[in-house]
Amino acid sequence: MQELKHWRLEREPAGLAWLIFDKAGESTNTLSAAAMHELGLVLDELEREPPKALVIRSGKSAGFIAGADIEEFTQIGSPADARALVQRGWDMYNRLAAVKYPTLALIRGHCMGGGTELALACRYRVAVDEPGTRIALPEVMLGIVPGWGGMLRLPQIIGPTAALDMMLSGRALDTKRAKRLGFADECVPPRVMDNAARMLATSGRPPRTLPFMQRLMNGPLKGFVASQAKKQVAARARPEHYPAPYAIIDMWANYGGNALAVPADKPTSMDAIAASPTTKNLVRVYYLQERLKGFGKSDGKSGDFAPKHLHVIGAGVMGGDIAAWAALRGLTVTLQDQNIERIAPAIQRAAAAFKKKLRDDTQVRFTLDRLIPDPSGQGARQADVVIEAIFENLEAKQKLFADIERIAKPGAVLATNTSSLRLEDIATALQNPARLVGIHFFNPVAKMPLVEVVEGAASDAVALKQAMAFVRKIDKLPLPVKSAPGFLVNAVLAPYMQEAMRCVDEGIAPEAVDEAALAFGMPLGPIELADTVGLDIAVAAGKELAGEGVVPPKKLLELVAAGHLGRKTGRGFYTYNQGKPQKGAVGTVPAGLAERLVRPLLQAVQRCVEQGVVADAELADAGVIFGTGFAPFTGGPMNYLKAHS
Ligand code: NAI
Repeated sequence: MQELKHWRLEREPAGLAWLIFDKAGESTNTLSAAAMHELGLVLDELEREPPKALVIRSGKSAGFIAGADIEEFTQIGSPADARALVQRGWDMYNRLAAVKYPTLALIRGHCMGGGTELALACRYRVAVDEPGTRIALPEVMLGIVPGWGGMLRLPQIIGPTAALDMMLSGRALDTKRAKRLGFADECVPPRVMDNAARMLATSGRPPRTLPFMQRLMNGPLKGFVASQAKKQVAARARPEHYPAPYAIIDMWANYGGNALAVPADKPTSMDAIAASPTTKNLVRVYYLQERLKGFGKSDGKSGDFAPKHLHVIGAGVMGGDIAAWAALRGLTVTLQDQNIERIAPAIQRAAAAFKKKLRDDTQVRFTLDRLIPDPSGQGARQADVVIEAIFENLEAKQKLFADIERIAKPGAVLATNTSSLRLEDIATALQNPARLVGIHFFNPVAKMPLVEVVEGAASDAVALKQAMAFVRKIDKLPLPVKSAPGFLVNAVLAPYMQEAMRCVDEGIAPEAVDEAALAFGMPLGPIELADTVGLDIAVAAGKELAGEGVVPPKKLLELVAAGHLGRKTGRGFYTYNQGKPQKGAVGTVPAGLAERLVRPLLQAVQRCVEQGVVADAELADAGVIFGTGFAPFTGGPMNYLKAHS
């Protein structure tokens, strides 16, 4: 056989063969054209001399396979290129699925996209029980489809309901779920994985078959299942913005999961997807996300910062949730407030959240053990990071930081979560103002991926770098911003929400305003967003960011004066029933309303870039997408402006 660079084939005397994927020159395995070509050579060789069984595993500690090579994907120039790329994987995995000898994928660590499709083409799958083992078909998030057999085989193996859920959301399975759904035949600890793979691969056990009902749903009832799935997708994404999820449903239901079988003139064809700007923009969003993640990586200069202990002061809406999130992500957290009574509700909220998220009593207990009520604030002495999230009051924050600086470890990161106070003003209370940075979370903490890391005039570069490493450590995306009113996210959201409320003052129904924004591609209408943030907070933010002399929206002031503060009081622009807005009919949406709403946001983003609040336009796009949910299919506000200028 020709010499291989990316794969190793090792044969045991008893006839079992191990195929180890170890991509040359990379820390993760991606299925580039070269790697796929070599896989073909391996299959040729195994055809000449068939093994008793074949186990495919990774040679990387990072994981199994991260998917196709996205770099190659960005070089696709025409629909014909896209078709060729799909054809390559589709044919290769059909070939693998058809071999006579038993095949097994031994999955440890991430298993994504084309990696998952490779595993699906094997007869058996063994998942190694570790938190890092995650299995997904995330293509939809890049605006593409799992065209290498995923749409054919995943529904056959785990049933169409669970398969569509995975393919349409891009969500990953952990090992327990992978086993329960039947994706994994076995789920084993690392120390026995090789043996388990060896035994199962040579066991002669027939492959698992689907229960009868699931078989029906993957056969004669496909049409019904597809129409249900389409309805669910329609509630989240419109086909003109996001064609891929609709294509996945159509390809599965009507074309046997073969992306290449859809006629080119259909809106769900590979050609249509390849030509859609959404695909290009979502790939851009992927790279933006990678760039944000990069800020949390060590630069080799500031040393590796591996925070283990977080101390949070203020157990209110934000502090309580920041503490809970960090505990969930494995940190030891001490949570301080004025007294234990003020901490108790935060712990209760955390317990409920952990239960929902972890669904395992022992894990819930371990996580709660890491979240320690600390009314006397002793934790500040040992913590690696201290975050202040007390009332928005300058004197109180100054006094607190003067105390904290005295007792905190010399190398600890000292951060404020303030939304509106100047970092420089708070920092005057410190002996060494350079120590203070901003770590600005968004509400609700558990749902919002972005965290702004704020550089004050005096902030120390190492402290900023460490703050960003901390943000990554708890699995959020750090965005470096300069200290300026509203930083980036609130500075762009405020004028957009104000404009929306002005439309309501002019007599346009809130429902119509929200619908215009949804049709543009926003995740939530601005009026519902204002109700969610709290109308009192909207008034305060408007005052601060719009500047003196700008009259706040009338209806907003009336509602606040009447004590209707939005969702939290059960009434704002909408009335809420069990947290859900009771919306009336949308009626006609005035022409040009979406453009009117978005204009102030776009102008604010441009201003932030010009003023250097963020370093460049790309970071502005990243911040606004991950901080506000701004229509990802546009590639971000600056990208949108470029495309529409
Ligand atoms: P909150 O009013 O819910 O909680 C503040 C907590 O701080 C209270 O439990 C209070 O007892 C405690 N506290 C006050 N002084 C204290 C002291 N000296 N020592 C210990 N505890 C003390 O406030 P919220 O909404 O959580 O805001 C906190 C900070 O987070 C503010 O700076 C705010 O600007 C910022 N922020 C708020 C967001 C929001 O949506 N609520 C979003 C992002 C940032």
